[in-house]
Amino acid sequence: MIILLFGKTGQVGWELQRSLAPLGTLIAIDVHSQDYCGDFSNPEGIAETVRRIKPDIIVNAAAYTAVDKAESEPEFALLLNATSVEAIAKEAQKMGSWVIHYSTDYVFPGNGETPWLETDTTAPLNVYGESKLAGEKALSDHCTRHLIFRTSWVYGSKGNNFARTMLRLAKERSELSVINDQFGAPTGAELLADCTAHAIRIALEKPEVVGTYHLVAGGTTTWYDYACMVFDEARKAGKELALTQVHGVPTSAYPTSACRPANSRLNTSKFQQSFNLVLPEWEVGVKRMLAEWFTATEI
Ligand SMILES: NC(=O)c1ccc[n+]([C@@H]2O[C@H](COP(=O)([O-])OP(=O)(O)OC[C@H]3O[C@@H](n4cnc5c(N)ncnc54)[C@H](OP(=O)(O)O)[C@@H]3O)[C@@H](O)[C@H]2O)c1
Repeated sequence: MIILLFGKTGQVGWELQRSLAPLGTLIAIDVHSQDYCGDFSNPEGIAETVRRIKPDIIVNAAAYTAVDKAESEPEFALLLNATSVEAIAKEAQKMGSWVIHYSTDYVFPGNGETPWLETDTTAPLNVYGESKLAGEKALSDHCTRHLIFRTSWVYGSKGNNFARTMLRLAKERSELSVINDQFGAPTGAELLADCTAHAIRIALEKPEVVGTYHLVAGGTTTWYDYACMVFDEARKAGKELALTQVHGVPTSAYPTSACRPANSRLNTSKFQQSFNLVLPEWEVGVKRMLAEWFTATEI
């Protein structure tokens, strides 16, 4: 079985290189790859890559993810997040391949307190959300064998993420203000990658699972509570912090170009039932990442 992975160096792509490897022959590429075009600003090049490799499964972890910047370059966001996805979908349909793709809770308007269901009406608040919704539609309209995983608040253990930024600031400052009116579940790239590999195996046996799923870690928190947990774990591990006070502040305290949804909660029942998997509470993955950093005395 040949698996083609786009976006191998992103947070999720990096972990997919590990989790997909045992499933077959993995060809992983990114925007800099020499042998094949992995540049999503070139949809025809992406289509040509699919034609040449003839994969059984395509996993797309490449995306335009700069949420605020997208407000000033909507065409470019759409090119990467929808036009190139459509190009993949059309080629995959011709060869009967599966396409696994990631989307976001930003397709929803973010109001209320109820976790969003896959069947809820979409209404993105920003350009990034619109481009991701267009990508979902492009894939589901043009490729029968698709799995779309909507996720949120993704962190990877390498590179910059919220926890790393909080720890850096906590060493430099005695006071911090963190947003306390946005609700979601921090979801590890590791968890997404592992769930993707399991879901692929199920999809190969039960093609009727085709569709859109919500995939996030269990539980709900705010950025404020997430930050406080990170500080507690750091202190327990004996890390010295300059921080003495953490203030919870509303979203309006940090104006950004793109509006952020207040309610990023996603209902994952459909995913857990369809794939017979359990999604651990968000704290499990975050504590594991912190333990790895602290043991390596990296932070
Ligand atoms: N991060 C989140 O909180 C979050 C939340 C909900 C959904 N998602 C979705 O989850 C998926 C994976 O996200 P992630 O967190 O792994 O994002 P990420 O770390 O930003 O990875 C995206 C990858 O796409 C690459 N890319 C950018 N421009 C490209 C181009 N022109 N051609 C090909 N590749 C290009 C990026 O490369 P460079 O790094 O070199 O730019 C990066 O490797 C995406 O579909 C995203 O929309 C993410």
